[in-house]
Amino acid sequence: MEFSIKQSSPENQRSACVVLGVYEGGQLAPSAHGFDEAANHQLSDLIARGDMTGKSGSILMVHTLSGVAAERALLVGLGKQNEFNAKQFIDMLRPVFATLGKSVCKDAALYLTDLPVKDQDESWKITQIVLAAAESAYRSDGMKSKPAEKPALRKILLGTAKKPGASAQDALKQADAIARGMKLAKDLGNLPGNICTPTYLADQARKLASSHKLKASILEEKDMEKLGMYSLLSVTRGSRQPAKLITLEYKGADKKQKPVVLVGKGLTFDSGGISIKPAAEMDEMKYDMCGAASVLGTILAVAEMGLKINVTGVIPSSENMPDGAASKPGDIVKSMSGQTIEILNTDAEGRLILCDALTYAARFEPDTVIDIATLTGACVIALGGVASGLFSNQESLAKELLDAGLYMNDKAWQMPLWDEYQQQLDSNFADMQNIGGRAAGSVTAACFLSRFTKDYRWAHLDIAGTAWKSGKEKGSTGRPVPLLAQYLIRRARAK
Ligand code: BES
Ligand code: MN
Ligand code: ZN
Repeated sequence: MEFSIKQSSPENQRSACVVLGVYEGGQLAPSAHGFDEAANHQLSDLIARGDMTGKSGSILMVHTLSGVAAERALLVGLGKQNEFNAKQFIDMLRPVFATLGKSVCKDAALYLTDLPVKDQDESWKITQIVLAAAESAYRSDGMKSKPAEKPALRKILLGTAKKPGASAQDALKQADAIARGMKLAKDLGNLPGNICTPTYLADQARKLASSHKLKASILEEKDMEKLGMYSLLSVTRGSRQPAKLITLEYKGADKKQKPVVLVGKGLTFDSGGISIKPAAEMDEMKYDMCGAASVLGTILAVAEMGLKINVTGVIPSSENMPDGAASKPGDIVKSMSGQTIEILNTDAEGRLILCDALTYAARFEPDTVIDIATLTGACVIALGGVASGLFSNQESLAKELLDAGLYMNDKAWQMPLWDEYQQQLDSNFADMQNIGGRAAGSVTAACFLSRFTKDYRWAHLDIAGTAWKSGKEKGSTGRPVPLLAQYLIRRARAK
């Protein structure tokens, strides 16, 4: 999709389709008044006849227009004017792009960025429009023998009453880069486990490095052995696929500036191992690398935006499979940090690969470390698909991430890391065990990670509920690329 923004009035805009808002009760949005005049009141006539009520979710394509430059008009219901808020704005975009996507229109001109939205500015509206367009156009058809039919829509113009400023152009470019990062994250997430292996992820990181002037380096199992990453290596023992530890470095600022390190869980398939999972929906465990995918997607977006900041991605990647060589419940391993771990459940493998990656992350002398992981089913129970679980050892970092998520409609919700939970990880035989019982499962998983992140500012995002959708709409969401990208935009701006 190609986006542009410029000052224009809808009645003079040549376009296959002009998109205009109508409030509940039938009141045309201000930008639509001149259009209605020029079209000889065709729109207000349709509204008077009851063809368009303005209720949220309502939509009407008007094909026969005269007196205006556009071929069609798409009227979208905005709901009650005094209730028009961020959620209404985002909800309104879905039927707009669904209708445009099914139409024959090759281009469209949207007059929606001038609609006043409670607490939100123009940049926010631009961002949401670009992301909604990309979401609607996304297809996962790379594995089908015939590709899905491509929508005709190629170009979107955002029309404004006043000449758009530099911040509007920036928002457009940044949202476009974030949409591309989300697409990469979705594509990788949707790939099956027999194709998207740790080796495949490493190849993707190398490709990204050569196309975007980044530095990629891959550690093999023998390198990890030398570093003493026996916790990470314990997870891959049952697999025929070699584990990889991928590092991807983006340098947009002075070399001496400390990087933000993003650590992404890259389990390309999680069968549970010897503590094997039930068969139902086990296919969804191909998504257990969505943390890794979000790191690659975010770095792609950051590189395309050219942010003046240093960002390093660290991706521990393996499969978790049962086999004669696989780790067994009761096995004890030594992590790179020196702490020993009793593996009571081989299905709690994410924390086992992450803990060594988090110890390794200290080598980059990080300013901040954020790990992103489809870590616990308990997080799905707690927060569902709306918010990612957020844990942090520093309040100001937690707040920055929460704010970035809210702005992008990629929400997170903070959960506690209080010491009282730590005792659930006590083991009779090792420094800790890898599970803490059913109670507060997401919290004890985060507590486990916190034992490896004492030397730096750190946050953990549990994306088990937000990284993909199940059921009829099954597919990767590309989250939390928007949250992470926005956090990094703000960090780069603050420097
Ligand atoms: N990858 C799963 C977490 C998961 C489960 C994500 C369901 C999304 C949906 C993780 O490796 C796992 O299996 N966690 C266990 C931990 C338990 C054994 C302590 C879980 O959540 O059941
Ligand atoms: Mn598991
Ligand atoms: Zn897992």
